[in-house]
Amino acid sequence: MVFFSPEFLYNIVIVKRASLEKGQYFMFVSLEKLQKGFTSAGYICDEEVILTVYLALRLEKPLLIEGPPGVGKTEMGKALARIFNTELIRLQCYEGLDENKALYEWNYQKQLLQLQAGRVEGRYGRVDGDLFSREYLLERPLLKAIQSDRKVVLLVDEVDKSDSEFEAFLFEVLSDFQVSIPELGTIRARHIPIVLLTSNSERELSDGLKRRCVFLYLDFPGIEREIEIIKARVPQAGERLTAEIARAVHHIRQNQEIRKKPSIAETLDWARTLVSLNMDRLQGSTIERTLNILLKARGDQRVFREQIGADALEKKIRSSLV
Ligand SMILES: Nc1ncnc2c1ncn2[C@@H]1O[C@H](COP(=O)(O)OP(=O)(O)OP(=O)(O)O)[C@@H](O)[C@H]1O
Ligand SMILES: [Mg+2]
Repeated sequence: MVFFSPEFLYNIVIVKRASLEKGQYFMFVSLEKLQKGFTSAGYICDEEVILTVYLALRLEKPLLIEGPPGVGKTEMGKALARIFNTELIRLQCYEGLDENKALYEWNYQKQLLQLQAGRVEGRYGRVDGDLFSREYLLERPLLKAIQSDRKVVLLVDEVDKSDSEFEAFLFEVLSDFQVSIPELGTIRARHIPIVLLTSNSERELSDGLKRRCVFLYLDFPGIEREIEIIKARVPQAGERLTAEIARAVHHIRQNQEIRKKPSIAETLDWARTLVSLNMDRLQGSTIERTLNILLKARGDQRVFREQIGADALEKKIRSSLV
C-alpha cells in the first residue's frame, strides 16, 4: 500500500479540471489552513479527521460521514461553511423524500395564474410555451447548490433516512454534478459544491453511493479532545470542572449496557447546566440531580444508578481512576 504523507498531500499542485467550464480549478486549501480553519470555527477534531476532509476537498468528492448521534456530523457541514465563508445548503432526508422536494418543482400556482391571465387576454398558445421556463421553476436544495454562482457547502443530512430509490437518484447527481430537466435541458454545475452526506447507519447505504464518496467514521472523542471541545464551546466552565466533566462522560460511555451513550451535545449541555448551577467541581449529589441532561432514557438512568452510581463516579474522578 502506498502511503502519502500529509507533507506530500499538502504539496499537490492545482490541477485544472478539463470537464468544467474555463477558469475552474480544484479547490485550493492547504492542510495547515484547514486545521486552523476548524479551530477558529470552534470545531475540534483529530488530525486524521482533518486529513480525510482535506482529501475529499482535494479530490472534489462527497464526504460521507457515519457515526453515532451527536458526535458532530451535521456540525462538520456548518464548520466547513464557516471556514470557506460560504453558504450552507441543507437537504434534510426523510422517508418519502423525492426529486420534487430535493431537486426542483414547477410552480403550478404561478403557471395556473399565468394561464388564467393569458386566457383573459386571449393568447392561449403563446403562454403555454413560456410556462416551462426558469421563471416557473422552484429550486430545491440540490439544484440550488448546482446553480449557485459560488462554491457552496451542500449538506445531505441523514441520508440513511431516505429510501433506496432516492439514494440511487442522489448518486447520479453527485457523480456528474449535472441534472436534466426535460423542459429545459441539462444544467451543469457552475461550481462543484463541497458535498457532505451524514448517516446514523439506520440502514446500510448502497455500494454505489459509498464508491462515489470519501468515507469518514466519526466516533465519540477521547478525554483530551472532549476537554478541548468543552473549552471551545463552554469556556466559562473553567479548567477543573471541564476536565472532570470530560472524564465522567468518558467513563459513562464505557458502560456497555447504556444504550444511548451521552453525545458531545449532551456533554456541552451538561457543562452549561453545571455552570449555571455555579459548580466548579463535580459532586455526587449534583451528578444525580442533573443526570437527565446526560442520559435521556429511563433504562440508561437505572443502569447508571445500579452499575456506576453518582457518588462512586465522583470518587473515581477525584482519585483519577478515570
Ligand atoms: N467536534 C466538535 N467540536 C465542537 N462542537 C461539537 C463537535 N461535535 C459536536 N459538537 C457539538 O455537538 C452538537 C451536536 O452535533 P451534531 O448535531 O453535529 O451531531 P450529529 O452527529 O449530526 O448528530 P445526529 O446524528 O443526531 O444528527 C453541535 O451542535 C455542537 O455544538
Ligand atoms: Mg445531525
